[in-house]
Amino acid sequence: MESALEAVAERLRGAARVTALTGAGVSAASGVPTFRGDGGLWRTYRASELATPEAFERDPALVWEWYDWRRQTIAACEPNPAHRVLARWSERPGFTLITQNVDGLHERAGSRDVLRFHGSIWHVRCRDGCAASPASWRDDTVPYPALPPPCPYCGGIIRPDVVWFGETIDPDVFARCSEATLCDVFLAVGTSAVVFPAAGLVHEAKRRGALTVEINVEDTPASPHLDAVLQGKVEDVLVELDARLRT
Ligand code: OAD
Repeated sequence: MESALEAVAERLRGAARVTALTGAGVSAASGVPTFRGDGGLWRTYRASELATPEAFERDPALVWEWYDWRRQTIAACEPNPAHRVLARWSERPGFTLITQNVDGLHERAGSRDVLRFHGSIWHVRCRDGCAASPASWRDDTVPYPALPPPCPYCGGIIRPDVVWFGETIDPDVFARCSEATLCDVFLAVGTSAVVFPAAGLVHEAKRRGALTVEINVEDTPASPHLDAVLQGKVEDVLVELDARLRT
């Protein structure tokens, strides 16, 4: 671990372009539940059962109950040292932060220009895309007085502006993420690496010549294919890497 950490720090020191892809593990130390593993269930539901257009059509109130609970949970959480290190790194030229997280904690830690692969839980849109409404708008209401919340423009209902299973990634975001795989070092941080297309980015980076590094408390399906695996809590490993970059 020690020599792997130093080798990664060395490559980061000399790197012109660095890209980090984060997942729910980055927010775990803040108290935001991850999707898989311990605490991954809400009531008896898995995320993959609720985060779909079909589930929303069937029972919008149930899906909104889950999102309303997550919004309340996240609102009570603070960014942790992992978010803060990445926010510092985001000031470095050539650094790109891609996140699968919808919680907004990277932005609250000060990261700018975050590429939100799966959207934001703090943005909503009209379910029917009514003509009077903007494509998406920020809504910090916590909790909502009634579920599902009404669309203020047409009286229909709103939905979270997040990407659900079976939906496509915003093409502009996807193009910018894909472009960011052309880098010297690509870090896959706190993600189970099972949800595609996000999980494909680290492999694309490797094909394009990046040093690929995983930071996670456990192995993932990507681990055997990457150049370095730093096993540990992301909030510890990133702080350690950051300290080495400053010396
Ligand atoms: P997951 O919940 O699938 O995975 C979290 C990962 O973080 C696991 O591999 C854990 O081992 C790791 N982990 C947990 N705590 C950690 C810590 N303190 N330090 C380091 N690693 C830690 O979350 P994601 O990979 O983000 O998509 O999930 C991907 C997507 O699946 C999400 O964006 C969401 C979900 O369904 C949609 O909603 C579309």
